[in-house]
Amino acid sequence: RGPGGLAADLAGRRVVVSAGGTREHLDPVRFLGNRSSGRQGYALAATAAARGARVVLVSANSALPDPAGVRVRRVVSARDLRAAVLEEAAAADAVVMAAAVADFRPADVVATKIKKTGADPAPLALVQNPDVLAELSAHRARPGQVVVGFAAETGDAEGDVLAHGRAKLARKGCDLLVVNEVGDAAGFERPDNAAVVLGADGSEVPVPLGPKEDLADVVWDLVAARLPARA
Ligand code: CTP
Ligand code: CA
Repeated sequence: RGPGGLAADLAGRRVVVSAGGTREHLDPVRFLGNRSSGRQGYALAATAAARGARVVLVSANSALPDPAGVRVRRVVSARDLRAAVLEEAAAADAVVMAAAVADFRPADVVATKIKKTGADPAPLALVQNPDVLAELSAHRARPGQVVVGFAAETGDAEGDVLAHGRAKLARKGCDLLVVNEVGDAAGFERPDNAAVVLGADGSEVPVPLGPKEDLADVVWDLVAARLPARA
């Protein structure tokens, strides 16, 4: 695809992609974060742009360079990300939530650096963050808007990776859920990814280990197939 490649099948479409990992600050210099590099989300944004879409990338704390031809909005926390994604989703045909959004944030953020006092520190109180994907899915900004989530799962006593993925897809209410199996370091900070893309219609598309651009192309193929015909 891309230069010299196939037709621009996303021409005239507007898409929003979130990428990276949110940071939840405790004080001006410390935060709770995660290991997401942003690579999968950046690959999704670049691929959509190459296929002709107008792309907004809501990027949380990624060190990657802005992809060519993509409008980038930088955010820090889950609440910042929510505000930016909901605002951009209002005009979008599809929204892909590739960002690792923190489930919890510190209950209190202090404006000055926390100092040690010699006494034992107080336990860290956390509160729940909003679930952006569930909110997007429940309140589609436009009829037929396609909403895609990502989930990194491990199998456990409750079920295997796909069982967890199916349950999550139903819980979130999105159209597609890209499920990665995570072992020790798989998926994070790596240029390649393997996944199964689950559809709310019961479909199941395996994507072999390969570049994150290849997974991105499969995601856009599945999104394109679900978009309503152009007006
Ligand atoms: N997500 C979100 N808002 C949150 C948490 C997650 O929008 N507060 C999105 C992520 O961007 C991802 C999807 O939801 O697309 C799945 O994230 P995941 O962490 O796997 O789901 P959770 O519901 O948080 O479940 P878990 O308990 O497994 O973390
Ligand atoms: Ca989570």
